[in-house]
Amino acid sequence: MKHDTVTPYNTGEEKKEQVAQMFDNIANRYDLLNSILSLGIHKGWRRKCVQLLRNKQPQNILDVATGTGDFAIECAKLNPKKITGVDISEGMMQFGREKLVKLNLDKLIILEYGNAETLSYADNTFDAIVVGFGVRNFQNLEKGLANLLRILKPGGQLVVLEFSYPRNPLVKGMYNFYFSYITPLVGRIFSKDTRAYTYLTESVKAFPNNENFTQIMKNLNYKNTNFKTLSLGIAAIYWGEK
Ligand SMILES: C[S@@+](CC[C@H](N)C(=O)[O-])C[C@H]1O[C@@H](n2cnc3c(N)ncnc32)[C@H](O)[C@@H]1O
Repeated sequence: MKHDTVTPYNTGEEKKEQVAQMFDNIANRYDLLNSILSLGIHKGWRRKCVQLLRNKQPQNILDVATGTGDFAIECAKLNPKKITGVDISEGMMQFGREKLVKLNLDKLIILEYGNAETLSYADNTFDAIVVGFGVRNFQNLEKGLANLLRILKPGGQLVVLEFSYPRNPLVKGMYNFYFSYITPLVGRIFSKDTRAYTYLTESVKAFPNNENFTQIMKNLNYKNTNFKTLSLGIAAIYWGEK
């Protein structure tokens, strides 16, 4: 698929290698830049995702592409027995582990290396799986989502949070301006990696959103799929069950 070929550095290395390298490079600025670029809105988005899981009271939760662990930390509010965060960037998880210790969540939440496409957990392991701003970076989106379905328990729920593309022409204009000029500029000022924040723009534009994303989930046999756009369509939550 076209979006799978959008890579950070165009070096010819596998997308997975380039993505891991990029997140290692920006790990020390990731949380700060997230807050600046989204004006703090991203926290409310994760909160909404976790609300969707509240009725199911999941006990064993997996946070895929956990990065510095923010989604896993939000999931702790569901009082589960165990949360596992996996990521291909050790650099990002290193900052996450420090946060967990400070928050006294390092017993509940374990962060470990894992690639969504090749995770080797047994079939039917998790009650719920969350992915925040991760699926866009998968090397092979379908392979990743299929593997997550395999390790979900029957009736278990996948919740995906991702940037989307607004439909309202006015919002779209502002969004394009922001992503084309402001994001790369702020990225350049605060982070040493100039490509990282232009990759963000390119990958968001190329990524299937709204009905296109739920269609991919349906094709993979996720049940009861649906989505909800957030903040005038600049982000979306997708969900589906096994
Ligand atoms: C934008 S960060 C999101 C971090 C966190 N989920 C959040 O909500 O802030 C994307 C993360 O996805 C990770 N990632 C990309 N592809 C992955 C894959 N195939 N398997 C696991 N993690 C992946 C990256 O290393 C990076 O840490």
